[in-house]
Amino acid sequence: MSDATIEVYENEARRFPPPEAFAAGALVSDRSLYEEAEADYEAFWARQARELLTWNQDFDTTLVWDLPFAQWFVGGKLNVSENCLDRHVAAGRADKVAYHWEGEPGDTRTITYGQLLSDVEKFANVLKGFGLAAGDRVAIYLPMIPELPVAMLACTRIGVAHSVIFGGFSPTSIVDRCDDAEAKLIITADAGWRRGAPSGLKSAVDTALADGAPTVEHVIVVNRCDTDPTMVDGRDHWWHDLMAGADDHCPPVPLDSEQLLYLLYTSGTTAKPKGIMHTTGGYLTQVAFTHKYVFDLRPDTDVYWCAADIGWVTGHSYIVYGPLANGATSVMYEGTPDTPRETERHGDRSAWTKDRLWDIIERYGVTQLYTAPTAIRTFMKWGVQWPDGHDLSSLRVLGTVGEPINPEAWMWYHEHIGGRSCPIVDTWWQTETGSHMISPLPGVTTTIPGTATTPVPGVFAEVVDQQGNTVDVGGGYLTITRPWPAMLRGIWGDPQRYFETYWSEYPGRYFAGDGARVDEEGNIWILGRTDDVMNVSGHRISTSEIESALVDHAAVAEAAVVGANDEVTGQAIIGYVILIGGFDDSPELREEIRQHVATKLGPIARPKAVNVTPDLPKTRSGKIMRRLLRQIAQGEEIGDTTTLADPSVVDALRASAE
Ligand code: PRX
Repeated sequence: MSDATIEVYENEARRFPPPEAFAAGALVSDRSLYEEAEADYEAFWARQARELLTWNQDFDTTLVWDLPFAQWFVGGKLNVSENCLDRHVAAGRADKVAYHWEGEPGDTRTITYGQLLSDVEKFANVLKGFGLAAGDRVAIYLPMIPELPVAMLACTRIGVAHSVIFGGFSPTSIVDRCDDAEAKLIITADAGWRRGAPSGLKSAVDTALADGAPTVEHVIVVNRCDTDPTMVDGRDHWWHDLMAGADDHCPPVPLDSEQLLYLLYTSGTTAKPKGIMHTTGGYLTQVAFTHKYVFDLRPDTDVYWCAADIGWVTGHSYIVYGPLANGATSVMYEGTPDTPRETERHGDRSAWTKDRLWDIIERYGVTQLYTAPTAIRTFMKWGVQWPDGHDLSSLRVLGTVGEPINPEAWMWYHEHIGGRSCPIVDTWWQTETGSHMISPLPGVTTTIPGTATTPVPGVFAEVVDQQGNTVDVGGGYLTITRPWPAMLRGIWGDPQRYFETYWSEYPGRYFAGDGARVDEEGNIWILGRTDDVMNVSGHRISTSEIESALVDHAAVAEAAVVGANDEVTGQAIIGYVILIGGFDDSPELREEIRQHVATKLGPIARPKAVNVTPDLPKTRSGKIMRRLLRQIAQGEEIGDTTTLADPSVVDALRASAE
């Protein structure tokens, strides 16, 4: 798409839907939210907390801010599961659908708020039966099945913090996370459906527990795929057996607003993932607020679908806590958009399905779709055309998250999926922020392809230069200038790292790690990470995590990793390795090394390519010049090499990349 075409579309795509398309007052949000928050942001958030949530005990202080440590809604007590379930049931909405769940093979379950509450109460009693109580941590390693939100909510009911581990992670990742959190129990499944076949989970837990995670005493196993896993006597228990014997009455425990709600591990610039801490009152307030206003939610009629995985923060905040706090009806889907492989509907039994998502949107009448640019670019590659045989006219709002969206993908989404009539909310946020931070509000904020526009009401962001001076127009580093309710409260077990990572670079400001540009209208364009963190298909992976997995292979002496631009996944992982003497380069060895990383860290961390090189480009002080490796991987012109200790290394690298 040419620049000129984008410009034409830009003008057309601005301000969607046009305000006059709504009857007066029909929009959920309006400008006054910004004005109110600007005038007194603490009072603004206090009002949201009281209006959106039910408190067992009102708070007396909105914010205690002792940089970098924040406490929100101090003195208040509430329970997350009560806010997500009991109060909706008490208001007569027991039969309202919480989740239209669809398994990958096509099996479906309709789960009402009443059923969800009953399951959560039972499972909370199961957890209590294992001696778990407020302050404990449990790990959850489940596929996208209804038992996953049930397990999370049951934890919140009794004040146990959960640590959800993405189902694509490896046994080593399970051990690292369980050790760090000292998790007492793991909730898993035999397997989950992935691209037409069961993908084992219990076996990974068994491997993890065989030589690690000594704090884990029990494993609860959901039977999802009938794969008959080995069960260790006394340690492993079937979910269905425990639930059959559980009482369905378990009162929610009123918890302190700052009670630890969950840990979610994310990649930083070192090899050790950080346990990001989120707490109760502030987190729930901001996810409920943003879920309502950013998606223009009308909970009585909407069918909202966030097509992420609950293993990431997007799923925590916008599949589980936000939608349930708001009493919304959601779609939850287990698999990938291109399964099942064999589709009789199309008469072609060898083809991958290309329309699973559109089929789901049509069948359930989905009103909001929230997905990642990678998915959008994949559909573009498949050549999906609106309406592609499906009626998508139920859609009202489209969301994007996880990585910068290129204007072409934005326009394609707008045109082919949104039928040119849906606003696109490009939501910038992070595992650490817990909740949307920069995003348009539908019908209120003018949207432009490629920019997340402006901070949501109550959030304050600024782009600064290297010295920390505010940049009014131009490029720089994205910072947040005031605390926000859903902000991380720290890194589990490492307050010093918390301060150094986020609050020391620009004194008094939270540094997000992203580069950004401000245009003349004040819109913020996110440019991507400025540190050694890669973004592959919207997932964060640190270069050093992969480098340590590479050097862990017996043949690898030294390794360097870069993220090279990739049309579909945003970035692709490219590894450069120096072999230990005695090992010879071969396609088989390179493949083995790639596989080694996947085994250590999980399939999403598998490098797209591993290049063997006799040397790595280093400065005279011994620092690897990643910029140069990136340029080589992208086949670009190589910039200044004067600081290289040995400039001849460039030719060898070029040869290895061919
Ligand atoms: O680089 C930014 C990118 O994703 C990073 C956060 O990753 P994670 O903690 O895994 O959370 C992803 C889902 C919230 C950010 O530092 N990112 C996230 N959203 C956007 C984005 N980049 C550009 N535009 C976005 N809308």
